[in-house]
Parts: sequence; C-alpha cells; structure tokens
Amino acid sequence: MIVRAEAPAHGGAVIAHDEGRPLLVYYALPGELVEAAPRGRQGGLKVAHVERVLEPSADRVEPPCPHFGECGGCQWQHARYDLQLALKRRIVEEAWRRAGLRLPSDTPVLGMEEPWRYRIRGEFEATRRTGQGIELGFHAMRSHAVLPIRTCPIHDERIERAALAFGKALTELNAGGLKNLLLTVEPTGKGLLWRARYERGGGGEADLALGRRVAELLPDLVLLDDSMQLEFWGLSFRVRSDTFVQTNYKQMQVLYSLALEMLAAGESDAVLDLYAGIGTLGIPLARSARAVTAVEENPAAVQLSRLNARINGTANFRTLPGRVEAALRKVRMGEHQAAILDPPRAGCDPAALAELLRVTPERLVYVSCEPSTHARDLALLVQGGYRLRRAAIVDMFPQTYHVESVALLERAAR
Ligand SMILES: C[S@@+](CC[C@H](N)C(=O)[O-])C[C@H]1O[C@@H](n2cnc3c(N)ncnc32)[C@H](O)[C@@H]1O
Repeated sequence: MIVRAEAPAHGGAVIAHDEGRPLLVYYALPGELVEAAPRGRQGGLKVAHVERVLEPSADRVEPPCPHFGECGGCQWQHARYDLQLALKRRIVEEAWRRAGLRLPSDTPVLGMEEPWRYRIRGEFEATRRTGQGIELGFHAMRSHAVLPIRTCPIHDERIERAALAFGKALTELNAGGLKNLLLTVEPTGKGLLWRARYERGGGGEADLALGRRVAELLPDLVLLDDSMQLEFWGLSFRVRSDTFVQTNYKQMQVLYSLALEMLAAGESDAVLDLYAGIGTLGIPLARSARAVTAVEENPAAVQLSRLNARINGTANFRTLPGRVEAALRKVRMGEHQAAILDPPRAGCDPAALAELLRVTPERLVYVSCEPSTHARDLALLVQGGYRLRRAAIVDMFPQTYHVESVALLERAAR
C-alpha cells in the first residue's frame, strides 16, 4: 500500500491512513510518502513496515547500525537527531492533551551532544544457531525471537565487546541453558557487573568457569558479580544487578540536576523521595534538604540505599521500605514540604496519589519514563489541588521512542 505518514504515535510508529482507516507505520517519518507492507496488528490497529520511501523527509538519515530495521531496540535511527527530539515533544504534548492538560510552551527538550554509546546497562538474550555456537542479542522488532547482535552503537563500547566475549566463552564451554545476561559497566571505572540467568537452576560452577574465561578475553575490565560503583557529583553509589540504575549516565545527571533544581529543597524542607531505588536522587537531595525519607519496595534497593547513605556520610536520609501506596499511610499530613516521585512506566497506583494528596507536600517533582501515565497522574494531582508550574523533557534514550519527562507542581493556595 502507498500511504502518507502523519503524526508520531507511541512505540516509534507513525500514524497513516489507508482507505480512511488509521494504521501504524514503522520506519516512516511524518510527512513522507511511503510504500508499506502489512505486518499484523497492534492494539486494534493494522501495522505496516516501510518497504520503499517514495518522498523522503529532509530529516531522513542513513541509520548507522547494521541491525536497524530488524532489532527491536531502536526505532528512530533513520531520523535526524533534532527531529527525534521534536517528535518526543509532540508525543508528550499529545499525551498531556489527551489527559486534559496543556504542556507549557517553554518546555525544553534536553538532548545529547553525542547521542550514541550512552547505555551503561544492557540485557541480552541467548540464542544458538547451528554452526554459529551461542550468540547474544536482543528481541527482534515486535517479536520474541532473538536477533544475534554483532554491534550496538547505543551501548557503551565495553558492553558490546563484553557481549561478544560472553558469547565466545559460552560457545567454548558448550554452556547451554543461558536465558539472559545483564551487563552494567562502571562509567568512570573498569568494573563490569554481570548476572547470568539460566532456563533451569544453573549458576555455581558453570558461572565460575564462564567468569574465568570471560576475564581472560577482557583483560582491560574487572569482572564483578556482586556490585559496582557509580560515581557522580563527588558521591559514590553501590549498584547491583537486581537494583534499578538509569541506563544513560550523562543524561541521568542532566535529569537529576533539573529535578533537584525544580524541587529547590532548602534547609527547612523535609522531603519524600518516592520510588527511591538505591538513593541516587535522595542522597544528593539530602545535601540541601533538612531530611529525606526514601520509599522503595525492592528490599535489595532499600538495603543499598542505606549503604549508599553511609558511604556518602548522609545522616539525614532515612528509609521507609514498602510500596508507596502502603508506606505513605505511615506519613502524617503536613510533615513534608516537598516530594519527588520517580515511578516505573506504569506510573503511580491511584492509592499512592490519594495518599500523596492527603499528605499535602507544597511542591512535587514528578519524573517519568512514560508520557501517557505521567499525564494521567499529573491530571489527577491537578484535580486534587496542585498547579503545574514547569515541565521538561530529557532525552535519556536517543534513537528509540522512549521519552523521559519531568514536571513541577505546586499546591494551589486555598
Ligand atoms: C524508575 S526507578 C527510579 C529509581 C530512582 N529514583 C533512580 O533514579 O534510580 C523506579 C523504582 O521504583 C520502585 N518501585 C516500583 N513500584 C513501586 C511501588 N509501588 N512502591 C515503591 N517502589 C516501587 C522500583 O523498585 C524502582 O527502584
């Protein structure tokens, strides 16, 4: 079919119409006339992939990665980076509009100077092809099949090398049964944190042999199987494979400094750090606030956040373990002047927002990696008596459709 690509849709596709019916087209850019072939359905809509571009956009570029078009990791390598940033803004604007909100016209989109090689964490799937041994790769586009990867230009080059080394070592050891491998590199050190997951049991002796062989293949890296160091702003954090870490180290600092600047916590402020992870936001925040209370449900992250507070000599950081929706019940109304929220993609449970409205901090900074749930929750907070003051978009995930946005809300005067 021949269609004209229209507006960007969620998930990296572009909306088009075929005989009046909307469809999602992948690998097109808004405005382009493309020939596209049907590829099933998604969320009730027909899906097509571009076969030929008949009228290319001036913003179309040659995707540098040989796996682009097959790999499920990147959707927008064919778009000039400035256009990617503009599309992300449109996606956020549209999500806010659907939730009945208006994105402030001065909302900046903070992109990267060099939007490649930014990921410090990668999760690889294992696959075995006859004659090729064991290889590591990612899920193919809109599929559960594993696509073996030779290179990945959005990952730190050391992760790319490490994935190839793990594949080689697994093949030499004939170690079957690996399901996936999580690799995280120290941005300012030599450590490579790894965790292998197997179909059945595994680990133990097999991991020892694997680790030993990979260490030989990667003599410039230090293999770590427990924890690694993450350093920024003169602070040092312990990170483990079972705890969340922002994958884009450079943009993490842009995001955190923006969030802390928006929150503007001073000496008289007690602050809630909700969905706190290992304390990477709450501990720097504690340098300017009177006290920080971190709420987190993952016990491994709670334990590390306590350790991280001790490593950094942060005495005014305390933890309140558990789910935000339950833990906030223990917090008294008016006890906190500000709160920062950084939930996963699903956003906040309505009970968590209801508790937050009861606790009534004066200022909220809400960080989100999913515009639709961000807008939905912001609208509930606005209905509950907050005013939106500022917003920003930080590009944590160049070349992909993922969007990170931040908003500042203030309690409206009653
Ligand atoms: C996007 S991460 C943010 C972590 C941290 N703020 C950071 O920047 O590294 C979300 C965190 O929320 C935690 N989490 C998810 N659902 C939760 C809930 N209902 N209550 C408390 N924590 C939750 C996850 O374990 C994860 O550590």
